[in-house]
Amino acid sequence: MKIILLIGIFLFCINFAAAQKFENLALTPPMGWNSWNNFGCQVDEKLIRETADAIVSSGMKDAGYQYVVIDDCWHGERDTNGFIRPNPQHFPSGMKALGDYIHSKGLKFGIYSDVGAKTCGGKPGSRGHEYQDAQTYAGWGVDYLKYDWCNSEGLNPVGAYTTMRDALYKTGRPIVFSICEWGDNKPWEWAKPIGHLWRTTGDITHCWDCEENHGSWSSWGIMRILDKQKGLRIHAAPGRWNDPDMMEVGNGMSFSEDRAHFSLWAMLAAPLIAGNDVRKMTKETREILTNKEVVAIDQDALGIQGFPAITEDGLEVWVKPLSNDEWAVCFLNRSNQVKPINFDWKENFIKDDNFQKQLDAGKTSYKVRDLWAKKDLGTTETVLRALIPSHDVLMFRLTR
Ligand code: GLA
Repeated sequence: MKIILLIGIFLFCINFAAAQKFENLALTPPMGWNSWNNFGCQVDEKLIRETADAIVSSGMKDAGYQYVVIDDCWHGERDTNGFIRPNPQHFPSGMKALGDYIHSKGLKFGIYSDVGAKTCGGKPGSRGHEYQDAQTYAGWGVDYLKYDWCNSEGLNPVGAYTTMRDALYKTGRPIVFSICEWGDNKPWEWAKPIGHLWRTTGDITHCWDCEENHGSWSSWGIMRILDKQKGLRIHAAPGRWNDPDMMEVGNGMSFSEDRAHFSLWAMLAAPLIAGNDVRKMTKETREILTNKEVVAIDQDALGIQGFPAITEDGLEVWVKPLSNDEWAVCFLNRSNQVKPINFDWKENFIKDDNFQKQLDAGKTSYKVRDLWAKKDLGTTETVLRALIPSHDVLMFRLTR
């Protein structure tokens, strides 16, 4: 009787152990590159290898970019036993060889699938093949799975994402699980024990403040995505991040807009997943993506998402509490005109009620570092006087 009870407890424990996500992954927001924003369905092994090379040679790897993620359309057909295979014309060497190549560069390998029977691009999805696919990915050396929500009719999101989480866990390979459910079912309320990041919105597009209507769905410009993050910061923490979508830096906006976009993603503690052609980027794009001091704001170990503390007339002052009682402060000019700022740090007491932090330059004098000019500006004793170009930012780190 006792033995049966013990076996019962043992089996319960095994089962219980299976029901979790990999902990201690993504303790800071994941950084990497994803093929979708610039290449859509035009993906092949040459592109992915060249991209891995460029991530190293451009200094992106050195700045922290790690995951090389192949988005939709890498798929071929399932074989007679149901195992998914890559498109043989586009990935003739196979995914294991590609994963090995990415790993040989000191980078990590990411892939894409979907909860439905078909992906958004009409390729085979994982529905009914979750455990088999997870096993296949682990065999290929996959380190990151983005899991989409197309053709999910009738599926319960918590159940669908939990199934894949469990399947990944069962492989024994630590795989970051990126939930791409577009915020439709408020994943920030249920996805913490399931994934390491979850999309909060529909797809991003490379414009400042537009909505691109595609009929049954829309994609959104940078400001539109930014505004949809309101109220979500309490849900982010090390190991679980709000994902406002992959970046559009280098995909056609102005230098100012790209710089503002990148700065704001850092203020949001967003995953920094580049979405441009890193093989051919301009010096300006490279300098934005590899600004280590801005990356450090995103990657701060405290893992607190920033928020707009002051909003007036097209100007916003975003703040983000950092480790060691430091702060990031980002002045955003959303308007179409240049804006002068005259900011007395001492007069602007800022309180973060969600995380019990206070930025009180009246009491504490901070040193001020301009993260884009890469210059020390003095202290918060001095009133900040500057001009911010339209659709641009000024970004500072305040240290003690
Ligand atoms: C959805 C996702 C995108 C991308 C495409 C691929 O739209 O939100 O990020 O993965 O599918 O088809």
